[in-house]
Amino acid sequence: MRKIVIAGNWKMHKTKEEALELVNQIKAGFKDNGEVKVIVAPPFTSLPYVREALKDTTIGIAAQNMFYEKEGAYTGEISPLMLKDVGVHYVIIGHSERRKYFCETDEGVNKKIKTALEYSLTPILCIGESLEERKSGKTFEKIETQLEGALRGLSSTDVKKIIIAYEPIWAIGTGETATPEQAEEVHSFIRKKIAQKYGNDVASYAIILYGGSVKPNNAFSLLREDNIDGVLVGGASLKGDSFLQIIEAGIRVSGGES
Ligand code: 13P
Repeated sequence: MRKIVIAGNWKMHKTKEEALELVNQIKAGFKDNGEVKVIVAPPFTSLPYVREALKDTTIGIAAQNMFYEKEGAYTGEISPLMLKDVGVHYVIIGHSERRKYFCETDEGVNKKIKTALEYSLTPILCIGESLEERKSGKTFEKIETQLEGALRGLSSTDVKKIIIAYEPIWAIGTGETATPEQAEEVHSFIRKKIAQKYGNDVASYAIILYGGSVKPNNAFSLLREDNIDGVLVGGASLKGDSFLQIIEAGIRVSGGES
């Protein structure tokens, strides 16, 4: 049985004090039933403080990006070693905002995934189509290309360790969520592709999150779909009460409510 994952991507928000306030709210409100994995992804500058605040909890910590080299003359970059050093467990890779504003390619994403795995960081690989691609019927083509590019050269054992997040670009920060049916269609496509390439066992393990305007009022209906194993939340993860409500939706689904 796959565990439900509720992850909050804080993007470029929160000073150290604000980050601590938020994380303390989440910590106080989250009653772990063992069925839901909660992850927060603060900006780099808050990672050590958030790590300290969460040290006696099961809440996981993700970075929002990293570089694929261990060290070197790469001004402004953060390495996997540095993330390990401050106690990070997960790393978001290939978010559409990184692809758009920082010219990240499938090739670079692939290198980052390989390095993350080498350092025992769990990659959260983001893929998703643009509005134009959806309108012109190219959604599945795009998803397949990004998936293949990101996973190139990885073994089945490697792929088992990766979390995938389907984030349609048109749904990010727009308030326009994919319907549960639209999301489920792509999620089951992703699982099918993984099964074809890496076998049914790997596919059944694969945790596939949905991201794009997830809110307290739509989380439950998304999470109860068969192939939606969790959510990657942006805006609604910036407030303790809304993020806790989304976690609660995960707990209800994990308890068999439908
Ligand atoms: P929003 O929830 O703000 O749409 O952001 C989604 C996202 O990009 C999570 O990584």
